[in-house]
Amino acid sequence: MDGVPCLRVSQCHAQHFRRSLESSGAVDLTLCLLKETDGTVLLPILPSCLSQLDLQSLRSKVAADSYCEIVWSQTPLQSKKRRGKTGGSKLEKILQPLMESHGETWTEELRRDLPRSFQRHGDLVLLGDGCFSLPQWRKMEQQLWSAVATGLGAERLAKMSRISKDGFRSPVVTMLLGERSWVKHVDNGITYEFDVTKCMFSIGNITEKLRVAGFDCRGETVVDLYAGGIGYFTLPFLVHAGASHVHACEWNPDAIEALQKNLEANGVSECCTIHRGDNRQLQLCDIADRVNLGLIPSSEDGWPVACRLLKRKTGGILHIHQNVTSPLPNTTASPAVNDATQRVSGKKANREVWQAWADDAANRITCLLRDITGVSWTTNIQHIERVKSYAPHVHHVVLDLDCRPS
Ligand SMILES: C[S@@+](CC[C@H](N)C(=O)[O-])C[C@H]1O[C@@H](n2cnc3c(N)ncnc32)[C@H](O)[C@@H]1O
Repeated sequence: MDGVPCLRVSQCHAQHFRRSLESSGAVDLTLCLLKETDGTVLLPILPSCLSQLDLQSLRSKVAADSYCEIVWSQTPLQSKKRRGKTGGSKLEKILQPLMESHGETWTEELRRDLPRSFQRHGDLVLLGDGCFSLPQWRKMEQQLWSAVATGLGAERLAKMSRISKDGFRSPVVTMLLGERSWVKHVDNGITYEFDVTKCMFSIGNITEKLRVAGFDCRGETVVDLYAGGIGYFTLPFLVHAGASHVHACEWNPDAIEALQKNLEANGVSECCTIHRGDNRQLQLCDIADRVNLGLIPSSEDGWPVACRLLKRKTGGILHIHQNVTSPLPNTTASPAVNDATQRVSGKKANREVWQAWADDAANRITCLLRDITGVSWTTNIQHIERVKSYAPHVHHVVLDLDCRPS
């Protein structure tokens, strides 16, 4: 999704919604709200809080007849700072006197080293990588973390560093305040419990998770080849999409522990078989109506096993995740080409690159299916979904590929 995530609400309830969102720390306080010409108001939401928004309970808190929905604003929302309205964040107001009481001068550098966004999991706030990196903070440690927790309305505090390269894609998360690292996260009616220091909750994949929840998989057998720690896709397939059975493959023991807990917490253990170990060694074949290949940067290693899993007689659908790199914009373009034109042509170029990748993937899957089954298959690109921007010019996309024996 492009743009800023916002809650669209009716103007008459906007202040009430804003207060409610502010109390849960979900509003992006650096951006101004936007009044639309149709009488609705867009309230900017912190991307890290998106998945925790329970729209139903928000609506019931505000007014029974109130309306709200999540949208992605394409209109740039004005920064409060540019309007000279920030007046310092709550955290800054708490930390500045604390630093000064330790003989430190409050500087712009320190202000810039404050967290801009974070994830909230119940009473635990998980800070991102790019904050509190300056040596000045180290003088205070525990006092600092208590103050930060107070400022962010949390009891426990943890901090994320880069994703480790151990093949398990575990986050490197350290507890800063509090000892218990298990958290409970209720999202779209599904309970997820996990240890923040051992499993990751891919907030950026929320749109894909909601899309999966909207599939109609009644009567289907689904294989989730990369089930991940919390059952991020396995659970929506079972709880919302109504799959008859999900085979969940995972090789990380910590992730399996969390997955088992979550299947139980959501009452769907009976409908899920966990396959431990490397999915490339999976012995199953000819059972799946659908295979989810949720691994980035690429799930290519899983393509042969996914093809073996599809039902030989009826085929099925593959959901193939991939990071696709777009070409750099043409910097030699004439100065007469304005920004808006460049944005439009950039989006068109992205779509062309995704389509080319999808065409190539479809051709390769067609060949794999023929080689594995000995009969010819027809593949059809149903949809290409952009999940998120992963890095500059790199997009996480999902290809829905319909595969049928011909
Ligand atoms: C990116 S996570 C996906 C998690 C989940 N789909 C999500 O978006 O939150 C990938 C998961 O696949 C697991 N994994 C990677 N390669 C695997 C393999 N060959 N066999 C089994 N599991 C694997 C990793 O341990 C990790 O938990």
